[in-house]
Amino acid sequence: MRTQVGIVGAGPAGLLLSHLLYLAGIESVVLEQRSREYVETDTARIRAGVLEDGPAELLDAVGVGARMRAKGLVHHGIELRFDRTAHRIPLTELTGGRSIMVYGQQEVVKDLIAARLATGGTVLFDAHDVSVADIGTDRPVLSFHQDGWEETLECDVIAGCDGFHGVSRNAIPPGVLRVYEKVYPYAWLGILAAVPPSTEELIYCRHERGFALHSLRSPELSRLYLQVSPGEQLSHWPDDRIWEELRTRFATDDGWTLADGPVLEKSVTAMRSFVVEPMQYGRLFLVGDAAHTVPPTGAKGMNLAVADVQVLAAALTRWYASGDPASLESYSADCLRHVWRAEDFSAWMTALLHVDRSDGFGDRAQHARLAYTARSRAAAASLAENYVGASRPWVGNGAHD
Ligand code: FAD
Ligand code: DHB
Repeated sequence: MRTQVGIVGAGPAGLLLSHLLYLAGIESVVLEQRSREYVETDTARIRAGVLEDGPAELLDAVGVGARMRAKGLVHHGIELRFDRTAHRIPLTELTGGRSIMVYGQQEVVKDLIAARLATGGTVLFDAHDVSVADIGTDRPVLSFHQDGWEETLECDVIAGCDGFHGVSRNAIPPGVLRVYEKVYPYAWLGILAAVPPSTEELIYCRHERGFALHSLRSPELSRLYLQVSPGEQLSHWPDDRIWEELRTRFATDDGWTLADGPVLEKSVTAMRSFVVEPMQYGRLFLVGDAAHTVPPTGAKGMNLAVADVQVLAAALTRWYASGDPASLESYSADCLRHVWRAEDFSAWMTALLHVDRSDGFGDRAQHARLAYTARSRAAAASLAENYVGASRPWVGNGAHD
């Protein structure tokens, strides 16, 4: 088999890249190790819930935003809760009219798969043992097994969109990549519950017992998270204990109550800041979580994946149209502008809200920072600007940072 762009991974990054390339008249094949059903519906894959307005507008502009506009929820603020008191951060007022879209990542993935298949795109599910070779040549190759057969896919370029645990990054020769990493001394226990949200806007809550987040998916479905220890056993967290802990952390002095209901999904997520530089080698380009991850506190991961895709799709479009490799050569440098802005914000927002009992000074300073963010319009405006997306991706047209 042969194609122009071989894409490893049918997450938000791989699918959106394939769709943007299709609109630019460039052929691609997406290889995904999982089944379509698993990718679209498995509850172990419930992840992001918040899109910045930029990525949401992009999905509209490329014809995959209809269901998001019908079912997604546009939010104009978030709440910071600490010392049993709510403090609203009015995102829209502080950012000149911008907002966020609450819409689940799996819904974005479903919309993109439907769009690719409707336009004759090739997404090969259940593609096992994918390996990436010859990336230092101008004919890189993907090989894989499907239905018991070994297949090869010759490409002009390969996009590694296979997430943090994928294989693409490891195809780059040793010594090329520099790794920047920070592992946090806590994790998130997340639940999806069949209960109407007890809030209209997301609540980011700091309590002595740890951070808690109240998010949502729809008028009937709530998504909640608790800070726990890394490696926490789910078996130690029966549903009653989770609700009890959530009630304790979210408690306020104004009588606010948390409604509970059946827990549909439960998982523990490790928290890591991670970036490799450069995000490319030869004809291989790393996109999204394959190149960088953020702790989830700032809701940035999927948004970053979309931003990388915009940069790579624009660079490939230029290269195929003119033969000029300049924008492909600057892919990594162009992405790292938005990547590091989001890395810094995600680490900051994580430190603002999580409890680290080993750091007494940090604890007192954190309290001062929270109080300042709630009181100062300048501090709140900085949080708001970063939360809705502080840097537009560099797509070679002057519209960045
Ligand atoms: P992925 O979504 O990881 O997709 C990679 C794909 O590649 C997968 O389908 C995988 O099966 C496939 N794959 C992997 N290895 C191979 C292989 N060897 N061969 C073939 N296929 C392979 N981000 C936000 O923007 N907003 C949020 O609110 C938010 N909340 C989050 C909450 C939680 C609890 C978590 C865990 C993450 C959250 N994120 C959020 C981050 C976001 O989910 C990720 O950044 C996003 O999934 C990255 O997309 P991706 O396409 O790069 O990678
Ligand atoms: C969700 C996840 C996040 O990481 C976040 O910061 C906000 C919301 C969510 O799953 O809804």
